[in-house]
Amino acid sequence: MVRVAPSLLSADFGNLREAIQKVAPAADLLHLDVMDGQFVPNITMGAMIVEAVRKSTDLPLDVHMMIVEPDRCLSDFRHAGADMLSVHVEACTHLERTIDRIHELGALAGAAINPATPVEQLVDILGELDYVLVMSVNPGFGGQKFWPRAIQKIERTVALRQGQQRPLIEVDGGVNESTSQAIRRAGADILVAGSYVFDSEDPSERIRILRQE
Ligand code: DX5
Ligand code: ZN
Repeated sequence: MVRVAPSLLSADFGNLREAIQKVAPAADLLHLDVMDGQFVPNITMGAMIVEAVRKSTDLPLDVHMMIVEPDRCLSDFRHAGADMLSVHVEACTHLERTIDRIHELGALAGAAINPATPVEQLVDILGELDYVLVMSVNPGFGGQKFWPRAIQKIERTVALRQGQQRPLIEVDGGVNESTSQAIRRAGADILVAGSYVFDSEDPSERIRILRQE
């Protein structure tokens, strides 16, 4: 069954602990968006927030790093409690080395790709990745419209795996009740959803809808 990762970007940061408690019973992992105002226009959280979230939950923490030169702070985020670290292909000059470093730190390693980046670019390091993060919006903000061509990209990622279950395929951006079915059918393993989950009185119910229980 598909796993659902609520993205805290759309949570109430004035009341983060309560927001986490609301999604925790239904969530499989939590997605945290790190933005630096350079790789993407927005600035969000640093390792301090990841540490605070770590203290509020035992769920695996999936940290999506939308920053330039992510190598500089992988260890900070790992020590703050990240279980999964994804870096953007577009931000890494030596991606293979960065993935290696994430593994040395003891976390699962993911490669994130913007809509304009072909997944085929990962073909030579696919075996080293724990997951591929297919962006279905241009990163930077929550609440954007799903980019429909992401469906084909998910299917192409499945084909590149040649029958294997790994790397897992995570999809992020514009995931809601109208887009999730096609995303699941295309073969995604993890759905990230921010605004759809948190813009609700009952976020856990939204998670169950995405998982189609
Ligand atoms: C966007 C972030 C997403 C964001 C998704 O750059 O990577 O994780 O929270 O938000 P929604 O689900 O609202 O599109
Ligand atoms: Zn994200």
